[in-house]
This record gives sequence, C-alpha cells and structure tokens, in this order.
Amino acid sequence: MSRIAYVNGQYRDLRDASVNVEDRGYQFADGVYEVCEVRGRRLVDFPRHMARLQRSLRELRIAEPMPLSALGIVMHEVVRRNRVTYGLVYLQVTRGVARRDHAFPPNPVKPSVVVTARALNYEKNQQTAAKGIKVVTVPENRWPRVDIKSVSLLPNVLAKQEARERGAYEAWYVGSDGFITEGASSNAWIVTNDGRVVTRSADHGILAGITRAVLMEVMEALQIRLEERPFTLAEAHEAAEAFVTSASQIVMPVVAIDGQTVGNGQPGGIARRLREEFHRFSAFS
Ligand code: PDD
Repeated sequence: MSRIAYVNGQYRDLRDASVNVEDRGYQFADGVYEVCEVRGRRLVDFPRHMARLQRSLRELRIAEPMPLSALGIVMHEVVRRNRVTYGLVYLQVTRGVARRDHAFPPNPVKPSVVVTARALNYEKNQQTAAKGIKVVTVPENRWPRVDIKSVSLLPNVLAKQEARERGAYEAWYVGSDGFITEGASSNAWIVTNDGRVVTRSADHGILAGITRAVLMEVMEALQIRLEERPFTLAEAHEAAEAFVTSASQIVMPVVAIDGQTVGNGQPGGIARRLREEFHRFSAFS
C-alpha cells in the first residue's frame, strides 16, 4: 500500500508529494510541527497538541493556515488513508513560499501545511520498553527558544546521531550549569531513591511536552509524588529510576546513562506503572 501525504490542500501519493524549493521551511527551517500518537485510529491528546501548535505559530508570527478544527479533519483523514491504527501523525506548518530573503515576506504568503502518518510496531515498542533504553549526555547547544516546537532541529539531529554512534537510543542535553534540560526528542525524568519523580519545570530550557503534562495528571491521580525542578547528571546517576516521555514513546524507561546503569539496570516500577496507566488519562479524538 502506498503512503499518502497531505500537502497544501491535496492528498498525494508520498512519492509525488513535494513542496516548492523556495518554501521557507526548506530554506530557513522557518516552521513549526506537532507529532501526535495514534491509537485505535484515534489521535491522543489532540486538543493539547493544537493548543501548543497555536502557541508556536504565535511566537513565530506565522498565520494559522486554517481553522484548527479543519486541521483536525485533515489529520484524521491522513490517518485513515494510511490505515494507521497505531503510530504517529506528523503536522508541519511553515511560513510559506517566497523569494529567498531572511526577513519575513513583505507581502503575507499562505503558510504551507504538510501532514503525514505512519504506523509503528506496537509489539516492538513494548519490547523496547520492557528492556529499557540507554541514553548518553551531550552539551546543551541549542538556542534559548526551545519552548517553540520549531522544525529547526539540527542540534537535535546531531545529538541523536551521537547517541546512536555511542550505542544509545537518546541523548540528554546537559547545560553549562550541570543540570539536564531534556532529550533530543523527549523530556527527561528521574525517580529519587525515596520515590519522588523529578522533572525540570517547563518555564525555561525545555519544550513543554504534551506527554509530560498529561503524565503529571496521571501522577496526581495515582498519588505519586512529583518535584518540578532541575536535576544534575550526578543526581541522575544516583537515581532509582529514569525515563523519557514523548508522543512516540509515551513513557520509556532509561536503564543506563553514559554507560552507567540506573538503579538495578532494569526498567523501574514507577516508570512501568506510569506507562501502563497513561492512556487511561489521555483524551482520544
Ligand atoms: N518530540 N522535547 C523535545 C525536544 C521533543 O522533540 C519532544 C517531542 C518532546 C516531548 O514532547 P511531547 O510529549 O509533546 O511529544 C520534548 C517529537 C515526538 C518528535 O520530534 O518526533
């Protein structure tokens, strides 16, 4: 079955789906994106993803390409046409097409919209979660506006590649102050030896993950103690558990950091429980 992408008003075979070479997304990474998990053909926590998209667009002064309800219809349609029951849907909005010049186009152009979807292997993800993943640390080298979910991801690409080359799945950024910010494509968490879950607050230095926000509600309901504060690499090495969160991985246990095992080297009980409970608390659209 060929895959279908939505590009600026049309559903196209992925092989023929293309954007203009002067699209500012292509020229300047001048755009934003969202990734939603798809479960049972439905979008997980879609309204929150749309709210974050709206914020990212506003911060970059990119116009909303269409009403968010229409965007939702397109995203569902791409999921349907690709027959994704479990996987991801990807949405990208760029400032649009204009003659190459760094400043915004003097006459407003229509933002470009691309939506793709793809299936993930549920069993394989469960197996990965049952074993846990390794992370390595890299120096934080991103711009300060990582709160915007922008497609400018070169530092994240390089960090993820470094992780792969060092035999790990994810990279954690460590700031010059010694505190971990987040992963190349996920938020970072640890669990202290007395069972408190720690993650950096989303006011500075990280993307406000949707999975992160929902997980905080899960923890409150399950009466798991949460501390929103930065933590150091040394603290992470001493932690009982560690895990990462993202739309594609939900809660993924971390069993080693820079080659040092976390806890007993197995996925921790709190991370496992949070992974199991997560979707009881998420919204399905
Ligand atoms: N990544 N931090 C970064 C830098 C991210 O790229 C992501 C998501 C997150 C977690 O956000 P959320 O829980 O809303 O997915 C945190 C997506 C999945 C990606 O780039 O593919």
